[in-house]
Amino acid sequence: MTPSEVKATLAFSDGSPTMELPIYKGSIGPDVIDIRKLYAQTGKFTYDPGFLSTASCNSTITYIDGDKGELLYRGYPIEQLAVSCDYLETCYLLLHGELPNASQKADFEHRVMHHTMVHEQMQHFLRGFRRDAHPMAVMTGLVGAMSAFYHDSTDINNPEHREIAAIRLIAKMPTLVAMAYKYTIGQPYIYPKNDLSYAGNFMRMMFATPCEDYHPNEVLVRAMDRIFTLHADHEQNASTSTVRLCGSSGTNPFAAIAAGVACLWGPAHGGANEACLNMLADIQNQGGVAKIGEFIKQVKDKNSGVKLMGFGHRVYKNYDPRAKLMRETCHEVLGELGLQNDPMFKLAMELEKIALEDEYFVARKLYPNVDFYSGIVQRAIGIPVPLFTAIFALARTVGWIAQLNEMIGDPEYKIGRPRQLFVGAVSRDVKPIGQR
Ligand code: ACO
Repeated sequence: MTPSEVKATLAFSDGSPTMELPIYKGSIGPDVIDIRKLYAQTGKFTYDPGFLSTASCNSTITYIDGDKGELLYRGYPIEQLAVSCDYLETCYLLLHGELPNASQKADFEHRVMHHTMVHEQMQHFLRGFRRDAHPMAVMTGLVGAMSAFYHDSTDINNPEHREIAAIRLIAKMPTLVAMAYKYTIGQPYIYPKNDLSYAGNFMRMMFATPCEDYHPNEVLVRAMDRIFTLHADHEQNASTSTVRLCGSSGTNPFAAIAAGVACLWGPAHGGANEACLNMLADIQNQGGVAKIGEFIKQVKDKNSGVKLMGFGHRVYKNYDPRAKLMRETCHEVLGELGLQNDPMFKLAMELEKIALEDEYFVARKLYPNVDFYSGIVQRAIGIPVPLFTAIFALARTVGWIAQLNEMIGDPEYKIGRPRQLFVGAVSRDVKPIGQR
């Protein structure tokens, strides 16, 4: 962190002594005011629910400029990575800080693709779930359970353990997601095939059966790979912060990633693509495009509790760059599958058009986010809606690991322990039960 020559001075209206606070400059983005000594020197905490103005760490991994609609992984614009690199190259970049050269790429691919199989006993573990369980409930359990199956890589303070845990997690997530899906529909699990690409192997594990040959469609494989790349990391979002906080206690990487999976499940975060598709289906069932006006009216009514899912973002106050790329992929996939006239897609396009022109959305800078399109793409590929968030978790695993490893390697890392403003009852005596 580079100290700035400028310092902040905190003054109090009651005449308490002022405090000088150091300021640090990032390579890009806002400067931060260092308040770490605030409590020791003033006896006061800061108050920032939702972390609206709080940097919880310093990081070199991902940078977002929400006003510009810019997303960089290790300095590279997402638009370039999405067209010039595949997901595993992106994983390497996120984990190691640089893009791989040809031999590093081949070596990394080999390592990942030769850890794709999961412990056979995990099948029995999976069998304990109800077949109609939500895939994210299953994934939270399966990822957490990995610490029980791979306990030779659970020491977060051991770099070799962290390295092998990273490879295992990236390699096995597709296998686990596909197993969770096959279990739901009662089909046999398909073992991984390591000579396929990462995305191609995933598609095969999802859609093949032991009875027939399966050849993944290259356009759909590319779309899946792009979904993975666009979701690979997104700096200090809720699930990533959860992984960091969970990992800060020294817990094992599998447990920390399972916490991230659980957090991602929520509809305000990773669950938005599922919620978005469900919303489109509801509008479709109620009359489709003709009902958009009525739906938008509901969204604008604060008492209705209805939100336009797939719109809005805590950080992007401009078009989400991932949404632009996903929109492109959406057209490509629907074209390949001959679904350009798909009513749901037409409805989504119309909804987007109306929302982008509506004063309510314009004034609040609410633009489509990546989930608005990724749901449509996944549905077209044949992925069932409840599985969308599990695929997001698969893709985000590398980001969570990169962030976790960065935190462990940071000499300033401490267990995360937020403070609070207590507004409850002050100390009082317990009355005997008859007097309460
Ligand atoms: N539909 C209608 N109104 C919205 C929406 C929306 N999707 N999103 C925000 N608003 C409104 C809010 O009601 C608020 O209005 P007000 O100023 O009149 O009170 C204003 O826009 C600002 O919204 P906040 O809730 O303060 O924005 P915040 O940054 O806290 O929330 C969030 C961001 C949670 C993503 C929100 O936009 C949302 O719920 N969107 C729908 C869910 C979604 O698509 N999530 C995916 C996020 S991307 C991801 O995880 C990959």
